[in-house]
Amino acid sequence: MKKILVTGGAGYIGSHTAVELLNAGYEIIIVDNFYNSKPETIENIKKITNKDFLFYEGDVCDKKLLRKIFSENEIDAAIHFAGFKAVGESVAKPLMYYRNNIDSTLTLLETMQEFNCQKLVFSSSATVYGDPERLPIDEKCRLSVTNPYGATKLYIEGILKDLYISDNEWSIAILRYFNPVGAHESRLIGEDPNGIPNNLVPYIVKVANKELPYLNIFGNDYNTKDGTGVRDYIHVVDLAKGHLNSLNYILDHKGIDYYNLGTGKGYSVLELVKTFEKVNNVTIPYKIVDRRPGDIAVCYANPSYAKEKLNWEAKLGLESMLKSSYNFSKNTNHKKL
Ligand code: NAD
Ligand code: UD1
Repeated sequence: MKKILVTGGAGYIGSHTAVELLNAGYEIIIVDNFYNSKPETIENIKKITNKDFLFYEGDVCDKKLLRKIFSENEIDAAIHFAGFKAVGESVAKPLMYYRNNIDSTLTLLETMQEFNCQKLVFSSSATVYGDPERLPIDEKCRLSVTNPYGATKLYIEGILKDLYISDNEWSIAILRYFNPVGAHESRLIGEDPNGIPNNLVPYIVKVANKELPYLNIFGNDYNTKDGTGVRDYIHVVDLAKGHLNSLNYILDHKGIDYYNLGTGKGYSVLELVKTFEKVNNVTIPYKIVDRRPGDIAVCYANPSYAKEKLNWEAKLGLESMLKSSYNFSKNTNHKKL
């Protein structure tokens, strides 16, 4: 049985991927410092899969800890989710973002090299396309970033490329996610940010639960179907399955490659709000406010390369994403923010 190290496996995407890996018969080891997650998620992954696995609590930037993990386990490949991800916070605290995202990656890569483990799946983001050169966005579109969070992803992509050039024994899949939403059908794992959410769906969920009074829609004067921003929302379970296919692929193929993980469909903020209301039978009051600085009008993937190379495509639609997000929230505590 292949052993896979999952960094940041207690987080939103990592926990869903852990479930898919365990269900597919992989042995996993999770390392997480719970900076942005909770210990109960580890127990919930075990509950969902009815499988056990090793968990190390600690920081991926801690070389001693990583050497301990690699010396205690014969690891075949790593999936690296651990990192900070809030765009606004990265503008306010750039050093913290560069330190954590880049240091954790370098520490992981150095340790992998030392222990002769050269297979990696890395969490990048569609944010590396900046204001996209063309639509739908394919992997060859020009790369540009507008904030420190995005810069960490772009730098890490560069580090991985240089590493591969230096040693062609590496096998690396760089996954550029579009907008992950939704939750596992068990309602045991999902996205539950602390405080006031930055992202659209977690915000709407809090409005639906009356923790927040209304949604602010950031601009209705974009050049889109109804003036509001258009994004490619992807169900986190589909995304998790994309990691499974990527892992299967890198275990058999050397090289470095880049894959868009999106659905290829764009929905506007208003379409999403209407769909949320319909499938969950709730009303979402909203106000149109100014554009959010740094936002782009439209972003959606051309996901055909992932289909061709990884035999992966998203299957779940917007209704399923929004139903599962709301269902998951009913399992968590609610307080007015
Ligand atoms: P998340 O915050 O839910 O999960 C990240 C996990 O990593 C958390 O459990 C956190 O505690 C842990 N972590 C952070 N730094 C760590 C460190 N130094 N050592 C150990 N653990 C650490 O985020 P997510 O949404 O699951 O995102 C996972 C990855 O995917 C991130 O790298 C993120 O940048 C990337 N990504 C996310 C999105 C998104 O919309 N969620 C989009 C594109 C890319
Ligand atoms: C944001 C990040 C992106 C990151 C992604 C996933 C920014 C500028 N971009 O993408 O780098 O990879 O999250 O974490 O932060 N919206 C509202 N009201 C809200 C929230 C959002 O109208 O309260 C709108 C936005 O203007 C946008 C859409 O909803 O049109 C989606 O926003 P969001 O969920 O924050 O994702 P992105 O901005 O696409």
